[in-house]
Amino acid sequence: MSRILKAVIPAAGLGTRFSPITNAIPKELLPVVDRASIQYVVDEACEAGIEEIIIVISEAKESIRQYFDRLTSTTSASIKYVYQHEQLGLGHAILCCSEAIGQESFAVLLPDDIIHDEKGALTQLLEIYSRVGSSVIAVQRVLPEFISSYGIIEPTVADDVIKVIGLIEKPEIDKAPSDFGIVGRYILSPMVLEILSTINTGALGEIQLTDALAQLVSSQDLYAVHIQGERFDVGNPTGLLKASIVLALRRQDTATDFKGFLGSIL
Ligand code: G1P
Repeated sequence: MSRILKAVIPAAGLGTRFSPITNAIPKELLPVVDRASIQYVVDEACEAGIEEIIIVISEAKESIRQYFDRLTSTTSASIKYVYQHEQLGLGHAILCCSEAIGQESFAVLLPDDIIHDEKGALTQLLEIYSRVGSSVIAVQRVLPEFISSYGIIEPTVADDVIKVIGLIEKPEIDKAPSDFGIVGRYILSPMVLEILSTINTGALGEIQLTDALAQLVSSQDLYAVHIQGERFDVGNPTGLLKASIVLALRRQDTATDFKGFLGSIL
């Protein structure tokens, strides 16, 4: 089993939920406390030992590149950029990285999901990957009213890990095979790229990574890790606010001041 050295961070989406700010600023550069939200996943990848990060951007999002160009001395991984010219979905964004990834297993981190824990979410996945040696995805339990916003897995228990035998992207609640939703961290075999190159559009008319994984399980093992950590969906304004508040309370340099302020307004 080879070490995971490369990670893809898809960041070419339009960010319409943050309109009008996204007329001028990519949503991934909106701040959580004092840094761009995308930096949390870049830092998580570096902490997990990733050596090369491939950020998928569009021509309109060059400022993401400028942001990291000024940070390179503090980022242990090298960062490459791949352009997604049409917004055809997450699966398509990953397919755009085929050449940059080559024939090795790779990680994917979705920057809309900030996961805060002592041990980074990708590190948690890599620990299981080093045991099972095949593709691994992160899941957490999802409340019924949010099931239709996630990729949902059909799990079986194999020893103490969850084996995935099926997946559905954004199912209706009555079609959901469990309440385990995918939370934006993946370690994938290169076969996923092959499948993505042949797949049709799925939910929302997009090329869905979840649909490729649903095909993968018929020929290769896929495991799910119920990861620890507080998760924030920073892809929408209230999630970004929650992340800012909680992370400001968790950080030593901001906690005291911020606790006092919250106490004074509640
Ligand atoms: C994407 C994936 C979905 C996953 C989710 C996690 O959906 O397609 O399977 O559960 O991220 O955040 P999106 O939120 O981009 O619609």
